[in-house]
Amino acid sequence: MSTHRRGALIVIEGLDRAGKSTQHARVCQNLRNQGHRVKSMRFPDRTTPIGESIGAYLRGESQQEDHVIHLLFSANRWEAAASIRTAIEDGTTVVIDRYYYSGIVYSAAKGRDDLSLRWAREPEVGLPRPDLCLFLDVSPEVAARRGGFGNEKYETSVMQKRVRELFYELVQLRDGEDIEIVDAGRGIEVVERDIMEKVVRLMAHTKLTRHLRIML
Ligand code: TMP
Ligand code: MG
Repeated sequence: MSTHRRGALIVIEGLDRAGKSTQHARVCQNLRNQGHRVKSMRFPDRTTPIGESIGAYLRGESQQEDHVIHLLFSANRWEAAASIRTAIEDGTTVVIDRYYYSGIVYSAAKGRDDLSLRWAREPEVGLPRPDLCLFLDVSPEVAARRGGFGNEKYETSVMQKRVRELFYELVQLRDGEDIEIVDAGRGIEVVERDIMEKVVRLMAHTKLTRHLRIML
């Protein structure tokens, strides 16, 4: 790796039960094995004061107005934005479990007229833009077969179905340029191989010699 190359920004997205956390861990490990420096992150980051209040909301211990919780999720990314940028400029690849794609679709999935996909996208504008977003897609049937949902807010089949539809709507928008859909209904190793092929292709790509972009 020549020294002028920056790190890559890679995001793993998907529904609950899609195997996101497993694949996120494997991507980090595989990249480290290949000699890359890797910073592993996840959103929501429940360790900050904002993240703690998000955690309380998700567990049903506190209530938040829908726009307010949306802005807290976004603020939780903004408080990490500078550290993402610094790591990448320093040549470290940042791999994140969920990012603004989840932020946009989960809020818009509530179905309010005053909380559209377009509205939900706005607070995210300006954040570091991923070089690659892998959307781990599973049908509601496969997700259900993988075992019940947990009991956090949003972990219902109605919500998950709407979230999936909105992910596909997002793919049609500008954000779709950065998204690669991965069929995560297959075995763990098959999905991992598919993902790593895309990741390895990115790591060799000339776009990593140019500056990190921002979300527009
Ligand atoms: P987690 O299960 O990956 O910790 O995510 C917690 C929940 O928060 C999950 O249902 C997705 C949702 N979410 C949002 O609603 N907005 C966001 O910005 C993010 C990152 C997650
Ligand atoms: Mg969860």
